Amino acid sequence: MLAVDFAGLKLKNPVIVASATPSIHADAIKRAAANGAGAVVTKSVIFADANGKPAGNNAKPRFQLYNTPNGYDPRLTEKGGMFSFFRFQEPYPTPEKMAHILDDVKKGGVDIPVIVSICGFTDDYDSWRKLARLMEDAGADALELNGHMWSPVVKYSDPAIATVVKREVKIPVIYKMMGATEEPAKVAPQLVAAGADALTGLGTFGFRALEVDVENEKPWMEMAHGLGGTWLRAVSLAFVSSMAQAVDVPISGVTGIQSWEDAVKYILLGATTVQVCAAIYARGYKVLQEINDGMEAYMKRKGYGSIEDFRGKALAKIAKSRPNDLPIRAVVNEKCTGCGMCKDSCMFDAIRFENRKTSITEACDGCGVCWSLCNFRAIEMRSFA
Ligand SMILES: Cc1cc2nc3c(=O)[nH]c(=O)nc-3n(C[C@H](O)[C@H](O)[C@H](O)COP(=O)(O)O)c2cc1C
Repeated sequence: MLAVDFAGLKLKNPVIVASATPSIHADAIKRAAANGAGAVVTKSVIFADANGKPAGNNAKPRFQLYNTPNGYDPRLTEKGGMFSFFRFQEPYPTPEKMAHILDDVKKGGVDIPVIVSICGFTDDYDSWRKLARLMEDAGADALELNGHMWSPVVKYSDPAIATVVKREVKIPVIYKMMGATEEPAKVAPQLVAAGADALTGLGTFGFRALEVDVENEKPWMEMAHGLGGTWLRAVSLAFVSSMAQAVDVPISGVTGIQSWEDAVKYILLGATTVQVCAAIYARGYKVLQEINDGMEAYMKRKGYGSIEDFRGKALAKIAKSRPNDLPIRAVVNEKCTGCGMCKDSCMFDAIRFENRKTSITEACDGCGVCWSLCNFRAIEMRSFA
């Protein structure tokens, strides 16, 4: 029921472990496979520098999760609350190391596709070609091109990389888009025309971030770059929806997936597979099976026999624009508890609150703020024409 074809890879389900620490060594990949992953994208492989030292380092500590103003509260995650993940540097495997990892996992009986992420140097296409050759020879089932590129980090996609790699290998080539400020409707077709068999979006947001502990008057989260987590999901969903409308190749949705609902959102917007990263740090590999179980229950409830039955269903419903100047006003219904929360947020002073009863006057502009704020669904937007 959950099986998908992703650029020629046969996956038993669409839930893939994203490229990061949860796929950084052989045991990690085995754990992912044992916990229901449909496939794994390995931690990105890069060349060692001129001194033989792999690029990247091993800053400690380097991870920070948070979902409250001052840190991380696991109870909120259990309830599906927001959390974010920030990273500092972490070590990257060299091609030699990844060849050992592939050998180990294949001999160890891992029977899901292992997609090797590669990351060459900016504008050095030969570095990408060589990495691709080495990893195909080592047994990679597909390649994902880490669109961040290694040093200096750039934030645009380069179709020439897809061309060079596609010419070099026979296995499927997936380009991971990383440029949050790029126009996916323009760039995604360029990547496909250049040779990409599939696309991933939207990868790590390469912004800097900092948080401050006001009592101790110092940062509680050190300067970090590379952001993921649920708070960025809405940005990535919009990006993926544009990709899906612009290209016919399969898309893997990534960023902010922590539950089956999040996975289904990406699929409804056209993704064929989804990738999970930060949720594994917060909840462990078991989150993969939970996402699959939840998705299967959803599909049974809705009468879907396959992922294709509902893939892209929400795309046609994306509003191009809102109609202007409709005769619409907010109206309070019987669910109102009289909490009064909406009153202070009305910029048009249209909400009256007397004897714990709420009413809305003709001064209402129809903007919808109170309607979106009400936890009790006690405000409706109605036409008064
Ligand atoms: C610690 C860490 C290391 C990562 N390393 C890589 C990497 O080597 N290559 C890559 O393409 N993405 C890397 N990513 C990005 C993830 O694959 C993913 O795109 C991002 O975390 C968003 O997903 P999430 O919201 O589920 O965390 C890394 C993310 C984290 C948190």
